[in-house]
Amino acid sequence: MCGIFAYAGDNDCRERLINGLKVLEYRGYDSAGLVAMDKNGKVFLEKAVGRVSALANEVDSRKEDSWTYNTGIAHTRWATHGWVTNENTHPHISSNDRFYIVHNGIIENYKELKSGLEKDHNFYSQTDTEVVAKLIESLYDDNLKTTMEQVAKKLVGAYSLAVIDTQNPWTIVWIKLWSPLIVGSAEDGIYISSDVNALASLAQSYTILEDHEMVVIEDKKYSIYMAGEQIERASETIDEAQKIDELGNFTSYTEKEIFDIPAVLKNAWSGRINFDEKTIQNETLDALWDLDVERICIISSGSSYYAWDMGCYFFRKFSGISSQTIISSEFLADTFIPDSKTLYIFLSQSGETADVRESMKIVKAKWCMTFGIVNVVGSTIARMADMWLYSHAGVEVGVASTKNVIAQVGVLLLMAMSLGSKRDMQISDVRDMISELSEIPDKISETLMQGPHIKKLAIKYSKYDHMFVLGRNYFYPVAGEASLKCKELSYIHCEAYSAGELKHGPLALVSPEFPTMVFNPMGKFYGKTISNVQEVAAREGLILWFISKNDTHKELYSDAIELPETSELLSVFTWLVSSYLFALYLAEALDRDVDKPRNLAKSVTVE
Ligand code: M6R
Repeated sequence: MCGIFAYAGDNDCRERLINGLKVLEYRGYDSAGLVAMDKNGKVFLEKAVGRVSALANEVDSRKEDSWTYNTGIAHTRWATHGWVTNENTHPHISSNDRFYIVHNGIIENYKELKSGLEKDHNFYSQTDTEVVAKLIESLYDDNLKTTMEQVAKKLVGAYSLAVIDTQNPWTIVWIKLWSPLIVGSAEDGIYISSDVNALASLAQSYTILEDHEMVVIEDKKYSIYMAGEQIERASETIDEAQKIDELGNFTSYTEKEIFDIPAVLKNAWSGRINFDEKTIQNETLDALWDLDVERICIISSGSSYYAWDMGCYFFRKFSGISSQTIISSEFLADTFIPDSKTLYIFLSQSGETADVRESMKIVKAKWCMTFGIVNVVGSTIARMADMWLYSHAGVEVGVASTKNVIAQVGVLLLMAMSLGSKRDMQISDVRDMISELSEIPDKISETLMQGPHIKKLAIKYSKYDHMFVLGRNYFYPVAGEASLKCKELSYIHCEAYSAGELKHGPLALVSPEFPTMVFNPMGKFYGKTISNVQEVAAREGLILWFISKNDTHKELYSDAIELPETSELLSVFTWLVSSYLFALYLAEALDRDVDKPRNLAKSVTVE
């Protein structure tokens, strides 16, 4: 959580910092701030509660200050310690007004450190970060680099933390443990950021810092240190895929990302499925299944958890392998029983989610096999995993994950089929599935054409405060994911249940004011689900059906979204996409900020 950005170079940094923060805003948007310095240590400090645009307005209102401030650090905050106030907004300052810092992460021992510092320092904020500013001052030994080495030794937690010193105005020192830190080299200077995307249109190359490393920027050059020694690290070239697309005619990135799904899915399968030969061709998976894997345990959070839950059904169906999924924070809370025959798979869009990362640390510490499926190239989870695949969904800007979930489900299906084809799955079944897969992107495009009809229904349902979402089998996690999307985008209370479970208690809530969404494709459980939903209808509950075009009981439904005919299993793709459109239009009907839902951040780097 929180985004940090820095610049040191030939030009004034303020606009550059604001533009960097705008890209990083998905990491937190409670408040934002920046500090800039000229080469003599003259300071320009600004903070604002709210979005980066509020900070930009404040900076703009001081336009008469046309001084060139060459060095600066900036921060966009997702509040963890302390309310959303100006005092708690970064940068934070030492008592002697000399050191300014910004921080992404959590200092777990801040209370302890604070009580040791309180006799010499007054604290103005409730944050863990201010404690570090005071700590730097109290440990300062005339050299910022060695001071920061001492500071790092005292900190427990996760941090990507930058400091500037008004008495050494060309210098930025940055330390890192667990929270991401990327340095970019550009013609006009050095940039530092919490992610590569914010550097993509500025820098020519970038370097990802490892834990316990330190970056020192001096005179527009950077050096990397580990345990006090300077080290060399090759840089990587910025890739087109790391750049954020223009919004074009869409009204939000969330909308754009939903409409990008057909292309995203093709990309996730490209080079991995040979549609002409109807085979799966992937060296990573071939090497993976050569290992002695008897069970699969999948660990993830949020939407990635629902994607994984779908994946477990696929693994069991195609390869007969026992697979279970665990929410990462629950994995952390439970007792871990290591099993050398289990493959532990970690699924994460950002590749930075703290609960997932910490779970992975526990599994790795016991020498178990780890596999990552991540979207962000070079992210922590990708680098920690023994083996990994990227979901190749491109940069996802909307805080609610959409296109990446579909890419994850696509990759999981591919993995399950690849293992299945090495086990009991018949070659003819694999070929039939691949033929059908080749049609899925078009079926999703057909689903997207239903937008106007889905919008009409969303407007109707947006007046309710509560909703159930029901599904069975593969469609149970689909219901979970749909309910998460409705909650986070529209703020309507939406709960997912297995259709068969409703009668065991939740049915008590059904009333004309409590509608139910039902996912009921033509398939094995079609009739049973209809019976369950009759129990809702009998209580005068309003029902919104998600059905297949070839549904045989259309006369039963007053509100229905009809989806293209596909096999039951593969209809998870079209059903998910239709539920995303529904959630988007619910949110728009309620005038929500769909790209940045309240209280949330895209990359959750705290436990
Ligand atoms: O980056 P990750 O996939 O690890 O993120 C996990 C969750 O934080 C994420 O899926 C979250 O639930 C999204 N807001 C869902 O739309």
